[in-house]
Amino acid sequence: MRADALRPPPALDWGAARAYDPAHMATFRILLTPGDGIGPEVLEESLKVLSRIEKRFGHEFQYEEELIGGASIDRHGVALRGEVIDKAKASAAVLFGAVGGPKWDDPKAAVRPEDAILGMRKQLGLFANLRPVKIHPALLDESTLKPEVLSGVDLIVIRELTGGLYFGRPQKRWETARGRQGVDTLRYSEKEVERVCHVAFQLARQRKKRVTSVDKANVLRTGQLWREIATEVGKQYPDVTLEHILVDACAMYLVRRPASFDVIVTENMFGDILTDEAAMLAGSMGMMPSASLGKRRKDGTGIGLYEPIHGSAPDITGQKKANPLAMILSAAMMLRLSLGLEAEAAAVEAAVDSVIKEGYRTPDIGGASSHVVDTVKMGSLVAERV
Ligand code: NAD
Ligand code: IPM
Ligand code: MN
Repeated sequence: MRADALRPPPALDWGAARAYDPAHMATFRILLTPGDGIGPEVLEESLKVLSRIEKRFGHEFQYEEELIGGASIDRHGVALRGEVIDKAKASAAVLFGAVGGPKWDDPKAAVRPEDAILGMRKQLGLFANLRPVKIHPALLDESTLKPEVLSGVDLIVIRELTGGLYFGRPQKRWETARGRQGVDTLRYSEKEVERVCHVAFQLARQRKKRVTSVDKANVLRTGQLWREIATEVGKQYPDVTLEHILVDACAMYLVRRPASFDVIVTENMFGDILTDEAAMLAGSMGMMPSASLGKRRKDGTGIGLYEPIHGSAPDITGQKKANPLAMILSAAMMLRLSLGLEAEAAAVEAAVDSVIKEGYRTPDIGGASSHVVDTVKMGSLVAERV
């Protein structure tokens, strides 16, 4: 990832978190929520890397760890406790593994592990989810797509994270004489669309100055609202080019001409789907980090939550097959965006780059490589290179 690609835009200057503990400029409180499945496995590897950062740069990361998701349901009966939110608010950042798994998948269950991540995002006001996609040249052949299509891909999706179908009410299921029914509500307010569009334009200013706003304005009222507001916000950034694309076409263009995108901004559910698709440009879900940012506290600092975009991967849990790089790169985003530690973030990204360049691969990006390593070895290789 290019070092300057993800500096926080002015409206999202998370470097302010550095002032969180003015007496100890190099001490940062970080909340760890490993979660379920491969969540704890990959989080562990990111801690190895952060430990090297502490030593090399003379910082101190103070960790607290909390159960969330299925693990919290088993212990406390709920996926996310109020205390965990309080601790998140008192921390400079949250490092989040993943939640969910077949054990808690009963569609009739009153509580679900996923409530943890949704609750964190909503209660912490994390409305902008940054999901960068950059292709490592050495991984061009690992993708299912042709190398010539992938060459030059360097895009970032800004996914709206606290509105839309995920949170609109009513949201329920019920029974009628004519059978079962369900409803979800796709609702957006002007403010919700506006603020996330500002993030996109400000980020674009630091990149290739192109924003693609993705909607379904040909069918949905919320899509028309989205397009109208994106256009209005765009007028405030005359130096940035704005294009509008319908979401179905965007899904197609993402595999046809992915290198043409710079910043994509879209609503919650479209962003969820498009970024799993975009993960395959990078070769694997295991390569996709993310940062969730939002409102600032009254003192000017902001909370950031950092997590890979992948889930708990029940199919490979406990087999040491998980790729920890998405989690490690999420920790790098935390260093840059929440702690204001640019050189440290760049050091982690450079370490990841060199491990890949040297040919080391977890099975998901393994292809024909003779250097296939497990989760723990991959974490150690990166840590050693910091
Ligand atoms: P998933 O992302 O867990 O897995 C999809 C596929 O990608 C699987 O084949 C998995 O093995 C592979 N994969 C994912 N991460 C990988 C990694 N780091 N290294 C190598 N391979 C990796 O999605 P799913 O299977 O649809 O969902 C499983 C559970 O995770 C569900 O309960 C879902 O709700 C949850 N989930 C949680 C989050 C989160 O906590 N933020 C995100 C997505 C899904
Ligand atoms: C993601 C995940 C979550 C989402 C789930 C686990 C609630 O898929 O972070 O992409 O849909 O937002
Ligand atoms: Mn998802």
